[in-house]
Amino acid sequence: MKRIGILASGRGSNAENICKYIQRFPEELQLVAVVTDTPGAQVVPRLGQWGVSVEEIPFQREGFASYIDAKKNHEQKILKTLQHHQVEWVCLAGYMRILSRGFLQEFYCKELAVSKVVNIHPSLLPSFPGRKGYEEAFAYGVKIYGVTLHLVDAGVDTGPILFQESLQREENDTWEDFQGRGLAAEYKVYQKFLEVLRKGELSLRKENDGGKFFVLASSKSI
Ligand code: GRF
Repeated sequence: MKRIGILASGRGSNAENICKYIQRFPEELQLVAVVTDTPGAQVVPRLGQWGVSVEEIPFQREGFASYIDAKKNHEQKILKTLQHHQVEWVCLAGYMRILSRGFLQEFYCKELAVSKVVNIHPSLLPSFPGRKGYEEAFAYGVKIYGVTLHLVDAGVDTGPILFQESLQREENDTWEDFQGRGLAAEYKVYQKFLEVLRKGELSLRKENDGGKFFVLASSKSI
């Protein structure tokens, strides 16, 4: 049984997709905690429909000497909830904050030599990291774009890539078409990851000692 937690900041469509998938396989996967840093975010009612409550843990800046202290405090609170529910894997689903090395360390898995925290990013990394993957790809005029599911490290969208899905920009695509196709691919890719996880097929391999760090997921269900 894999115990999964979700962090989400906004609309929550990825969180809902993850939740729906997990609920199909109650013997293998369990969604044990969902946290948002944004009180009143859409993710709250969205998961409520599926009987899942979302804990609101807002970021508080006041009362702390520095931003770093405020961030530490916020992460400690989130960690406490995740640990209380014995979360093993953390799925970031539109979570708009960068997690610190210390937080990630709490989910470090020696055997895999990675932290068990994954994120969905709306671009084919390493192109267009940051908050506006689709916007920047669309504005740039790329013909091929896509989505990336990656392990999270302390950088901005720099962690080892697990899955990618590429998409074609069609000639007459509106922004809505472009983004909508991307979102659908995000759901698909997250499901792929969860499938590999629930089947126990996630096998990671380090290659190129001392060089770039590649992580390969089992090809079976890709
Ligand atoms: C998604 O496009 C995700 O890739 C990006 O932010 C968006 C969140 O959407 N990081 P939602 O909250 O999952 O609906």
